[in-house]
Amino acid sequence: MTAQIPARKPARPFFSSGPCAKPPGYSLDKLATESLGRSHRAKIGKSRLAYCIDLMRELLQLPDTHRIGIVPGSDTGAFEMAMWTMLGVRPVTALAWESFGEGWVTDAVKQLRLEPTVLRADYGELPDLSAVDWSNDVLFTWNGTTSGVRVPNGDWIPADREGLSFADATSAVFAYDIPWDKIDVATFSWQKALGGEGAHGVLILGPRAVERLESYTPAWPLPKVFRLISKGKLAEGVFKGETINTPSMLAVEDAIFTLEWAKSIGGLEGMIARSKANAKALNAIVESRDWLGHLAQDYASRSGTSVCLTVEGADADFIKKFAGLLEAEGAAYDIAGYRDAPPGLRIWCGATVDAADIEALGPWLDWAYHTLKK
Ligand SMILES: Cc1ncc(COP(=O)(O)O)c(C=O)c1O
Repeated sequence: MTAQIPARKPARPFFSSGPCAKPPGYSLDKLATESLGRSHRAKIGKSRLAYCIDLMRELLQLPDTHRIGIVPGSDTGAFEMAMWTMLGVRPVTALAWESFGEGWVTDAVKQLRLEPTVLRADYGELPDLSAVDWSNDVLFTWNGTTSGVRVPNGDWIPADREGLSFADATSAVFAYDIPWDKIDVATFSWQKALGGEGAHGVLILGPRAVERLESYTPAWPLPKVFRLISKGKLAEGVFKGETINTPSMLAVEDAIFTLEWAKSIGGLEGMIARSKANAKALNAIVESRDWLGHLAQDYASRSGTSVCLTVEGADADFIKKFAGLLEAEGAAYDIAGYRDAPPGLRIWCGATVDAADIEALGPWLDWAYHTLKK
C-alpha cells in the first residue's frame, strides 16, 4: 500500500461524536434572532421555547402520555435531575458498558449512596439485558457513545415493570425508533444527532415518572435547578417553555433551525434513513480493510451513530497521531476514540453527516494508516 494523499477531501470533515456536525446548509445568518436580547419570559421568548418543544415532540413522535421540557445542564443536567428527584424509593439497577453509563453508576453509589445492583460489560459488549430485575428502577444508556454499543430495541423492558426505566438517550434520539411506552424517563441534548448547540438538556417524562415525582420526596436536598415539583404538583410550566432558569435563546434558535431541517428531510424517518446510510457507508469501508474493525462485535447492538473502530496494532499514541494527521489536512476532525475507551477511532454517523463525506473519508483513513506505518 502506498501512502499517496487522496485527491478529494470530505466536503464537511466534521465527524465528532458531540458536538456533532451542523445540518447541511447551516449558517448562523439563517437563525431567527427576534428572541435574542429579550426576556425569555416575554411572549416572543416563551413562544419560541414552546415552538422548540412542539417541534421536538412532533419529530420524536412522542405520544401525548409523555411530557417534554428544556432543562439546564445539557444531557448530564437532565439525567442527574431525574436521578436526584426520583431515585431512592425502590432498589436501583444500573447498567454500564462504557464511560457514560459508568458515570451514572458513580453518581448512584458515591453521591446518592444507593447501593445499586450494577450490571457491567466491557467496551464493545452489552451486559445481559435479560438479567435486569424490573422491580428495581433501572438506569441505562440507550447508545453508549464511547463504545459504540447500544441496546438493540426496547423488547427487554417489560410493559408491566414495577420500577421506572431511566434512559440516557442522548446519542440515540433522532437516529433510532424509541418505543416510548417502554420509557419512563429519557434525556438528551441538542448537540448530538440534531447537530445543535450544547447548553440545555431535554427531559422526557412518562406518566409513571410524573406519579413518582408527585408522590415522593427524596431524603437529600435538591438544588433549585433540579426542582420539578411546586406545591406538591409537577411544575407543568417547564414542559411548556417556562424554563427553571434563563436559557440561551441563541441555542434555542439554533435547535429550532436543526429541527426544521429535520422536518424538511422527512422527519424522524428521514433522520433515521440518513444515519443508516452513513453507518452503511462506514461499514463498507471497515469491511474492505483488514486493519480496521468494529469495537462492537454484535451487529444488532452496534451503534449507528457513534461508530467505534479498532485499528490493528494501534495504541493511544498511534491514534493521537492518526487523528492529528487527518485534522492537519482538514480531512477529518475529532475522530480519535474517547479518552477512557480502548485506543481506536470513533466516527459519527448521525443524520447531519453526509454519506458522501463518509465515503470520501475511506482513502484518508488508508493514507493516515500507511503514512504512520511507514
Ligand atoms: C451517552 C452520553 N451521556 C451523557 C453525555 C454527556 O452529555 P452532555 O455533555 O450533553 O451533558 C454524553 C456526551 O457525549 C453521552 O454521549
